[in-house]
Amino acid sequence: MTTQRSQAETQLLFPAGFAWGAATAAYQIEGAVAADGRGPSIWDTFAHTPGVVLGGDTGDVAVDHYHRFREDVALMSSLGLTAYRFSISWSRVQPHGAGPANAKGLDFYRRLVDALLEAGIEPWPTLYHWDLPQALEDAGGWPERDTAYRFADYAGIVHGALGDRVTNLTTVNEPWCAAFLGYASGDHAPGRREPEASLRAAHHLLLGHGLAARALRGDRTRVGAAVNLYAVTPASEADVDRDAARRIDGLQNRFFLDALLRGRYPDDVLTDVEPYDLGVHDGDLEVIGGPIDMLGVNYYNRFIVTGRAGAAPAITSPFAQASPWPGSEHVGFVRVGRPVTAMGWEIDESGLTEVLTRVAGEYPPVPLYVTENGAAFDDVVSAGGVDDPDRVAYIDAHLRACHDAIGAGVPLRGYFAWSLMDNFEWGWGYAKRFGLVYVDFATQRRIPKSSARWYATVIERGGIGIGTMNT
Ligand code: FCB
Repeated sequence: MTTQRSQAETQLLFPAGFAWGAATAAYQIEGAVAADGRGPSIWDTFAHTPGVVLGGDTGDVAVDHYHRFREDVALMSSLGLTAYRFSISWSRVQPHGAGPANAKGLDFYRRLVDALLEAGIEPWPTLYHWDLPQALEDAGGWPERDTAYRFADYAGIVHGALGDRVTNLTTVNEPWCAAFLGYASGDHAPGRREPEASLRAAHHLLLGHGLAARALRGDRTRVGAAVNLYAVTPASEADVDRDAARRIDGLQNRFFLDALLRGRYPDDVLTDVEPYDLGVHDGDLEVIGGPIDMLGVNYYNRFIVTGRAGAAPAITSPFAQASPWPGSEHVGFVRVGRPVTAMGWEIDESGLTEVLTRVAGEYPPVPLYVTENGAAFDDVVSAGGVDDPDRVAYIDAHLRACHDAIGAGVPLRGYFAWSLMDNFEWGWGYAKRFGLVYVDFATQRRIPKSSARWYATVIERGGIGIGTMNT
């Protein structure tokens, strides 16, 4: 009794049934880009374009998860994960983005899902994590309305194949990135720099979500989207900085939250992007704002912003040339001297509590999941292992932030660490390691870092043990 009580007192316990997960995405881990009839995606094309990915890296091989998924599921099992978030490559399922399904592509995901279920790990597939079939980009990409309808068809195919064994289906991952890094700054595939097209892309990504959600929600299937939210703070109380914060919060957070949860775009954001035509048709926002069963929140850091001239842009790519903020290109991003990750992102876990309590407090109720959170550090192998106390500290702090949010009444139901293992970090190639598991990219050997062992302890205990930071 005494032992039990003192254990409870030294732990921050999470609610029973809380999902303890880790996340990945298809192009970042699978490799096997020409296997079994897979067609090219915009990331294949983009990564093979000189000068857009650090070191000329591509996802051709990535961490070869396509061939090593059983080993990877065994790893997840050894960590005690109760859920695994991964994405499905659209161009494996429909090599040219339309038409009949490629059975071999679907079979891969059937095998993966079955292996997860057998290991007692809940599969959490995401339908779109940025890898649009190239054929659809050739037809105009996300700025074309038809792409949203193609996406809904594809969602139906996946649901038809996996719907009997998958409960939680995420439509789109971080539509902000897909739209604005893809079509405004051009830091991500397809590398276009067209502000109006980027806004249309954002609208059509949301419309694709809405059409898919409407078609797939049911007794068994819970559908949601995953958005990347930021805490946004003005660099000073000056009007010009407060306006910058309103703008960035508007386009980054409220544009997506208001559309998904209230079925409208915020008026002030529409004014900020006034010269542009988003291509909204009557009825679109009712589709986008239709019921969802959960919302995924991806959180990495806080933006501190200024409207004064001369401040640095956000770090969105090693080659950043243009702003991903149509209508607010002048806004600068300020550092305040907090410790940074290897991405140069300042660490601020209080922002996670802030965004979670904001969604829960200001929007209609919806179960929330942190679908991504994590940090890159310059990990090194030493004596056969990888000691990454900075990552342990980062995740520990952010889990405490989650616990605070739950304490404040937020319906937070799970946490997915980004990432299960080191992988292709988009424009940064293999230079940034986010994994709980280290991958030697030359040999594909997986080495669980000390953060993986620590996370396994957290999962086993159902919470964070005070003073267990180094166990
Ligand atoms: C998110 C992406 C994910 C990964 C992390 C670091 O924006 O969804 O694929 O790149 O950032």
